[in-house]
Amino acid sequence: MSLARDVAGIRFANPILLAAGTAGYGREVAGVIALRRLGGLVTKAVSLERRAGSRAPRVAEFHGGMLNAVGLANPGVAHVRAHDLPWLRTAEPALPVLVNVVGFTTAEYAEVITQLDDREGHAGYELNLSCPNTNAGGVEFGADAATVTDVVARCRRATRRPLFAKLSPALPVIAVIARAARDAGADGITLVNTMPGLAYHGSQTRLGNGFGGVSGPALLPVGLLAVSRTAEALPGMPIIGTGGVSTAEHARDYFRAGATLVAIGTAALADPRLPERIITALERTDG
Ligand SMILES: Cc1cc2nc3c(=O)[nH]c(=O)nc-3n(C[C@H](O)[C@H](O)[C@H](O)COP(=O)(O)O)c2cc1C
Repeated sequence: MSLARDVAGIRFANPILLAAGTAGYGREVAGVIALRRLGGLVTKAVSLERRAGSRAPRVAEFHGGMLNAVGLANPGVAHVRAHDLPWLRTAEPALPVLVNVVGFTTAEYAEVITQLDDREGHAGYELNLSCPNTNAGGVEFGADAATVTDVVARCRRATRRPLFAKLSPALPVIAVIARAARDAGADGITLVNTMPGLAYHGSQTRLGNGFGGVSGPALLPVGLLAVSRTAEALPGMPIIGTGGVSTAEHARDYFRAGATLVAIGTAALADPRLPERIITALERTDG
């Protein structure tokens, strides 16, 4: 049986994607991952301006996963438009690519999309709604249904390509925010982003930024619950399940919970061939 999935008008040859921020813009991992074997790739964040990102160290391992504060480092939309997306289009013309979009005001998200949308080479966008909203004292966009409605509606007007809204696992009622995203025009929901966390080494925080985001094994049950609750609340809404996947059985757990696709992040950083092995395992058992 084929593992192919048609989701929000995009044809994925299989349901396994690389998660945002862990595969750069494809080129960074092309030497170690067979990109054409993947179902799809979500790019690293793209913001309007270039961002240098957080102070080093940016990642720390702990028992149960990883803590990162990359600070959304990226070359900015003009560079991604001129260099990164054209590279991906030439290297992997058939690979579905979702561009992960960030902003610090509601208008910025739509502006990034506007600057990319006349380009070919990407299938859609994933809106990282865990960014701090500078006009709301740094509260993340995704924390408030009215703000989510505003961001998604503006992005909807900026493109006809599919939009996925990516949410934090730290929201009190994720399904309510997911519904606001859907009603404003999102075609799918990505669950979950990293969970805020802190780690010390003696009296020093282990990350240059102080706090960061927890990813990896500790996030698996958290992500499964977020997906399950959202799938129950929004039947038929495509969901990309993300968080803690390192085996084919974990991917199946996400499908059981209601995910349509699964994205792998941290586990692929440590072992770049892992997504391929998971795809092969799913093919052997028909999913
Ligand atoms: C180093 C690193 C960078 C990340 N960068 C982004 C990003 O740019 N945009 C985003 O939406 N999520 C980003 N994430 C979150 C991942 O896409 C994913 O949601 C999260 O890590 C959970 O999946 P995992 O446990 O498989 O890593 C990043 C995660 C890591 C570890």
